[in-house]
Amino acid sequence: METLHDIPGLRDKLAQWRAAGLRIGLVPTMGNLHAGHIALVRAALERADRVVATVFVNPLQFGPGEDLDSYPRTLDEDARRLAVAGCHLLFAPTESAMYPEGRAGHTAVEVPGLSAQLCGASRPGHFRGVTTVVAKLFNLVQPDLAVFGQKDYQQLLLIRRMAADLNMALDIVGLPTVREPDGLAMSSRNGYLSATERRRAPALFRTLQALAAAVAAGADPTQAERDAAAALRVAGLEPDYVSVRRQADLAPPEPADTELVVLAAVKLGRARLIDNLELRRPAAAAG
Ligand code: PAF
Repeated sequence: METLHDIPGLRDKLAQWRAAGLRIGLVPTMGNLHAGHIALVRAALERADRVVATVFVNPLQFGPGEDLDSYPRTLDEDARRLAVAGCHLLFAPTESAMYPEGRAGHTAVEVPGLSAQLCGASRPGHFRGVTTVVAKLFNLVQPDLAVFGQKDYQQLLLIRRMAADLNMALDIVGLPTVREPDGLAMSSRNGYLSATERRRAPALFRTLQALAAAVAAGADPTQAERDAAAALRVAGLEPDYVSVRRQADLAPPEPADTELVVLAAVKLGRARLIDNLELRRPAAAAG
């Protein structure tokens, strides 16, 4: 597997593949790869002739006081894991390659409305940074498809919406969350947890399971959200939000909506953890 850090080198390589008629898959990441990322690469390999993974800790999506400086950077190990998985090319640009004129004043891509809720409410500007860098990566690689994890449910919806709104001609593939044996969703930020916090962390998944089951059984979503937030606090996790939403647009559900998703973000020590579960509410329960 080749590793490239510069845009002209990337464009040359991709031009050769495109001239050969090869189908190109993209897996954007911020590195510190775990089994969840490798599952994205494998899914891309099943659907494309050549797979490009990117590792770039994108400063635009971190707010002041967030973990930009401490975010784990493990490029050599990431490259090793990607090569073992069969990835063809790693693109790991420098910040100056991606933002040669600096971060401030850079053109932004933003999906209005959806960017400001849930994670966007407590991380202003976060999703603008995500959609901006993903749009840049789509333009640089011009992939036939790109693969993202459903753990970042809101991010995935925003990227789908951006690609549709801007007529980007690629398939966006979403893959189920990969979990540790105790249910904790895999995340690079799990590494921030102390041993005690790590033991508490699966309460996030368990609480979402209970919330999804309650809503599927016909519980009032608002009351069920309150119960879930209380259960998280009892387990030692500080909820940022716990919410029942529609899968299609993350709007609060109307009584007739059946395809729902429960989402939560919690603070646990230094870590901010997110997770979600889709559920189907029977039409009868939906009223
Ligand atoms: O999900 C992530 O790791 C990042 O938000 C992404 C999509 C690579 C953009 O920086």
